[in-house]
Amino acid sequence: MVNNETKAHEFAKKQREISIAEFFEKNRHLLGFDNKRKALLTTIKEAVDNSLDACDEAGILPEVIVEVIDMQNDRFKVIVEDNGPGIVKSQIPKIFAKLLYGSKFHKLSQSRGQQGIGISAAVLYGQLTTGKPVKITSKISPSQPAHYYELMIDTKNNKPYIIKEETVDWKKPHGTKVEIDLEGSYQKGDQSIDQYLKQTAVVNPHVTLIYTSPKAEQFVFARATNKLPVHPKEIKPHPYGVELGMLLRMLHDTEARTLQSFLTNEFSRIGAGTAKQICENAALLPSTKPKAVTREMAEKLMEGIKKTKIIAPPTDCLSPIGAEALEKGLKKEISAEFFTAVTRPPSVYRGNPFIIEAGIAYGGQQNSDSQAKLLRFANRVPLLYQQSACAITKSVITTSWRKYGLQQSSNSLPIGPVTIAVHIASVWVPFTSESKEAIAHYPEIIKEIKLALQECGRKLSVYIHKKRRIFAESKKRSYIETYIPHVAQALKELLSLKEKDKEKTEQLLKEILEKHRGELEKIIVNNPDFDEELALEGETNE
Ligand SMILES: Nc1ncnc2c1ncn2[C@@H]1O[C@H](COP(=O)(O)OP(=O)(O)OP(=O)(O)O)[C@@H](O)[C@H]1O
Ligand SMILES: [Mg+2]
Repeated sequence: MVNNETKAHEFAKKQREISIAEFFEKNRHLLGFDNKRKALLTTIKEAVDNSLDACDEAGILPEVIVEVIDMQNDRFKVIVEDNGPGIVKSQIPKIFAKLLYGSKFHKLSQSRGQQGIGISAAVLYGQLTTGKPVKITSKISPSQPAHYYELMIDTKNNKPYIIKEETVDWKKPHGTKVEIDLEGSYQKGDQSIDQYLKQTAVVNPHVTLIYTSPKAEQFVFARATNKLPVHPKEIKPHPYGVELGMLLRMLHDTEARTLQSFLTNEFSRIGAGTAKQICENAALLPSTKPKAVTREMAEKLMEGIKKTKIIAPPTDCLSPIGAEALEKGLKKEISAEFFTAVTRPPSVYRGNPFIIEAGIAYGGQQNSDSQAKLLRFANRVPLLYQQSACAITKSVITTSWRKYGLQQSSNSLPIGPVTIAVHIASVWVPFTSESKEAIAHYPEIIKEIKLALQECGRKLSVYIHKKRRIFAESKKRSYIETYIPHVAQALKELLSLKEKDKEKTEQLLKEILEKHRGELEKIIVNNPDFDEELALEGETNE
């Protein structure tokens, strides 16, 4: 029998650090690269989301050019070019060829990316499937040359490996161009690049996208507004969302000298008075040195925070689309007859502020026998995969749509000619995985989504009921119309009228019937907002 000690030494030889790049090389499905079709979409999504983030943050109206070239045998070349602020030369290698490197992870403000892994993951996948480097061109000012790089990831060390580096001429005043070769598969349909770009246009009316598909078709999604979204401010964490481990780390890292100044400096919504109150509720001295706070004391501090009334986090860190713009976006891309949208007031989960928005497009060319089409968005990014795992889906299927005039079997999407769009804007979107495809089931988030859906649902119900009434009215009218000649004939016989008077009576009856035709239709169809509140009351009283 081999002795234990020898075995332990044998194990020790095999035990070593695993780099994050090696980890994701094996687990690329966690980042959204589990099949060829999805890999192509994810690559484009990571590059486009970065371009839009960079433009929004720099206050530039984004114009993004996306080109996907079919290189045959399941190989594609993806080129994404933006007019953003560009990237400083020394940062280019790390951004594109080092996983977990970025500017968004450590700050609390709304952006599309948050993890610092997106674009380097796409580069890793491309390199794994084609062995080719990523090519980047970036320029930060008209007075400076553009920098060109060809990079690969040294996966063992999660470090950039520079294949080529040079300055080049580039006509653009500033911007970034990324070129990735990868194995993929291109298909149209619900989870396609085309859908992702179309839905991006719906929730980003300030963006222009120019897209050339692998079939060499060109699509232009032109911006509908020149107004940039409100720039979201960066915030500090709210005390109600902090967890013990995080609090201990913050106490260790802070430059504040007292507990009181630590609380006011490192958290949002804590002034001197509230800080004193927290210390009192925690039975700790406000003058305690943060570095002297032990684990037990930190637990007391957590209790103190819980016991103290602190106002909700500020919401200028969020930049919702806005009900009007969301409705406009839906109108632009969906052919329907009735549109409505709402923006909910801000709310909080685990200390993170968020806002839910919802919109509905009903009728028109949409199929009335199939399930509603659900469009999910997080920080203005369309989510195309993992629909059933998402808190948005859960909220939609647990909302009772029958009372709003749609059919629905239990635990399913409603049935009818309807598209439902839901957007969550947050400083930290709680995705269920690194591939950012589905929202985690936080009760606070589900509750807000349902409230937004109910608001839209009530407006939809007014429209559907009126429409049904118009239909019933017109059915009744044509039924009566067929009897008019018989009634006139009967009256002629009963009252011994002359043929001329009979005709007159017939004409008169027709006129009475025609007098109000289309009046309801005119009011409702051409003006769905007509007396909505009043009509709504009428509906609920019925
Ligand atoms: N086109 C671009 N223009 C300017 N800066 C960019 C561009 N693309 C990426 N960056 C910078 O590179 C960083 C890393 O990008 P990456 O996509 O890897 O992570 P992220 O966007 O921060 O988060 P996520 O992993 O959620 O996408 C970004 O945080 C941003 O600072
Ligand atoms: Mg990103």
